[in-house]
Amino acid sequence: MTPAAVTFREVPCSSDTEAVRRIVSSTGFFQPFEVEVAVELVQERLDRGIASEYFFRFAEAGAEVVGYTCFGPIPCTISSVDLYWIAVDAAWQGKGLGMRLMSETEKAISAGVAGARPPFCNSGNGRRVYIETSGKELYGPTQRFYERAGFRLEARLESFYAPGDDKLVYVKTLA
Ligand SMILES: CC(C)(COP(=O)(O)OP(=O)(O)OC[C@H]1O[C@@H](n2cnc3c(N)ncnc32)[C@H](O)[C@@H]1OP(=O)(O)O)[C@@H](O)C(=O)NCCC(=O)NCCS
Repeated sequence: MTPAAVTFREVPCSSDTEAVRRIVSSTGFFQPFEVEVAVELVQERLDRGIASEYFFRFAEAGAEVVGYTCFGPIPCTISSVDLYWIAVDAAWQGKGLGMRLMSETEKAISAGVAGARPPFCNSGNGRRVYIETSGKELYGPTQRFYERAGFRLEARLESFYAPGDDKLVYVKTLA
């Protein structure tokens, strides 16, 4: 199946915990505890619904989830949104799927979510999208991906994660 045939789904289902575990693990980018955090966010959404304030887009190739994003409003802001996770299954990377996921996610953020709290309750409220990532060399391709997607590097927090491992904060202002 080609990336063009991939479809997107919004509402998580119980099998997505294992799908997210598989996808995030497949990238080889994340420590086991980080994989667990990714899974927990899906479980939190399954348990609490949109009150969890975790929102998703799942990319599906037939019945298989091959990539996803997780995002949500940043508390105490009017229109800022955190993109917590974006990951594409290792076998699907470099085929344009990440860019399509990002575009679907930006559309979702701009449109808002019925029944959610501000800034997601009304159409057009999600405006500034933030992403945090590591400055380590391993994340060079990820940093280039964000820049290709129109994000700009707003801040660098030196040795934030560990000595020599900076935190990079990227931002994109949606139209
Ligand atoms: C980052 C990630 C989501 C990108 O998804 P993807 O499907 O591989 O990306 P795309 O195929 O849509 O690539 C889009 C652009 O990003 C850039 N890019 C993506 N992967 C790249 C790589 N390995 N090296 C250099 N540039 C890369 C390219 O410039 C590409 O633009 P082009 O098509 O004009 O060349 C995916 O590679 C991934 O899951 N990485 C590991 C997990 C991760 O780092 N997640 C983010 C932290 S939470």
